[in-house]
Amino acid sequence: MKFFLDSADLAEIAELASTGLVDGVTTNPSLVARTGKPFLALLEEICRLVPGPVSAEVTATDLQGMLREAARLLEVAPNVCIKLPLTREGLQACRALSDRGAKVNITLCFSPAQAILAAKAGASFVSPFVGRLDDVGHDGMQLIADILTIYRNYPSFRTEVLVASVRHPRHVVEAARLGAHVATMPPAVLRQLLRHPLTDKGLEGFLADWAKTGQRIT
Ligand code: E4P
Repeated sequence: MKFFLDSADLAEIAELASTGLVDGVTTNPSLVARTGKPFLALLEEICRLVPGPVSAEVTATDLQGMLREAARLLEVAPNVCIKLPLTREGLQACRALSDRGAKVNITLCFSPAQAILAAKAGASFVSPFVGRLDDVGHDGMQLIADILTIYRNYPSFRTEVLVASVRHPRHVVEAARLGAHVATMPPAVLRQLLRHPLTDKGLEGFLADWAKTGQRIT
C-alpha cells in the first residue's frame, strides 16, 4: 500500500518524507490557499521533496482551460500528476492527457458509477472521498469496497484506488484491509498511525532495566 501526504505544507512534507514512509503527495486548491504561497513555485518545491507522484489540481472547469493549465503544471516537474474533477470535462481532459502519457488523478469521486467512468477515461488514480461521505451519514469505506470489487472484475482497468479525505488511522487500516492501492492522509494521521501507548510504555521499561546494567553497546 502506498502512502501519500494530503498537504501543501513544505515543512510537514519535508519532515515526514525524511521517514521514508511517504510515496507521494496530494494537494488541492484549498490546501494551497492555506499556505499563502504562489502555487507553481510551491509545487516545484514539493516535487523536489518526494520522488513519487505529486497531485496538482487544475482550477479551470472547461476542457480547453483544463488542458492549458495541465500543460503548465506538467512543465513544473516530471513527477507532477494532474488532478482533475470528476466532471464531464474532467473526464474528457483525463482521456486526452492519459493518451499522451501523463498521470491523472480524478478527484471528488463519491459513487461507484463515477469510479467506473474514471477508469474508462484512463485515470492513473481515482480519489473517493471517504471522510466527506461519512460526514453526511454515508459509509465511505463501503464505497472503497465497491470500487475495488468492480475494478477487480476488469483487469484492463489500470486505475489505482487512492483513498482520500482520510480523517483517522482507522480509515487507513480499513483501506489496507480492503486492498486499496493508496491512502492519502493529513500529516497528523500519519503521525497517529505510528503511536501506541504500549510501545511507549514498553520502551520506557526496557530502557530503565538496561540503565540498571550500566552497560553501553558502543
Ligand atoms: C484528496 O486528494 C483531497 O485533497 C483530500 O483528501 C480532501 O480531504 P478533506 O475532505 O479532508 O478536505
